[in-house]
Amino acid sequence: MEAVRGLDLSIQDEQELLSLKAAGHVVRMVLDAMKVEVRPGVTTRYLDEVGARVMQENGARSAPSIVYQFPGANCISLNDEAVHGIPGDRKLKEGDLVKLDVTVEKDGYMADAAITVPVGRVSPQAEQLIACAERAFHQAMLVARAGFRVFEIGKAVEREVRKSGFSVIRELGGHGIGRTIHEAPHVPNYPDPQARQVMNDGLVITVEPIISGGSGQVFTDKDGWTVRTGDHALSAHFEHTLVVTSGSPILLTAG
Ligand code: CO
Repeated sequence: MEAVRGLDLSIQDEQELLSLKAAGHVVRMVLDAMKVEVRPGVTTRYLDEVGARVMQENGARSAPSIVYQFPGANCISLNDEAVHGIPGDRKLKEGDLVKLDVTVEKDGYMADAAITVPVGRVSPQAEQLIACAERAFHQAMLVARAGFRVFEIGKAVEREVRKSGFSVIRELGGHGIGRTIHEAPHVPNYPDPQARQVMNDGLVITVEPIISGGSGQVFTDKDGWTVRTGDHALSAHFEHTLVVTSGSPILLTAG
C-alpha cells in the first residue's frame, strides 16, 4: 500500500492498518451485541449499556463521548430520528426502525459503522428503506477507488436512492476517520461539486447513506443532538469504515 502522509490521514503502514482493523472489529462486535437485543419492550438505554460493556471488555471507548461529550456510548435513533439519538428510557415497540451508530476508539484509532434494525414486523416502506440504504452503500463501493474523486461516491449513492423514490439527507454524510472521528475529506451522499479530492490508495473514510422516505430535510431537536426529518418521515442508515485501494475497498468494520 502506498504510504501517503497528509491531511487526509491515509494509512501510513501495515501496523496502522492492523490498529484500525482492531478498532473496526470492536465496532462490529458492539453492533452485533446490540442488534440481538433489539425487541419490543427494551429501552434504548439498555441497548447502549450492552454496547458499552462490549467496548469496555475489548479495551475500547466510545468515540462520540470522548470527542464530543455525547451523552451516551452509542447513537441510537428511532424512526424519524436520522442520527445522534440519545439513549434513554424510551422502549422499543413493534414496527420501529432502530439505527445503531457505533464509533469506538481503541489504542488511538477510531472506526465507525451503523446499521438499521427493524423491531419485529415493520411496514413495507421501512423494509424498503433499510434495503435501499444498503444497496446505495454497495453501489458506492464500485467507485470508492484510488484515482476517483470523492463526489463519485455521492453520485452513486443518490442515484440509487432516487431510483427507489427516496431521498438522501444532504446535510449528513461520510467522512475521513482514523485518529479522530471526523477528518477530511467530507464524503457527501450526493454529487457535491466541492468534493473534488482525488482518493488515494490508503485513504480511510466512512461511506454512510443516510436516507429518508420523505423530502430529506432535517432539523436538530431541542435536546441539541438528535437530528430528525422535518416531515417526520422514516429514516435509514448504513455505514462502514473502509480503506480505499486501487481495487475493492477494505471494509474495516465488516467483522
Ligand atoms: Co460516521
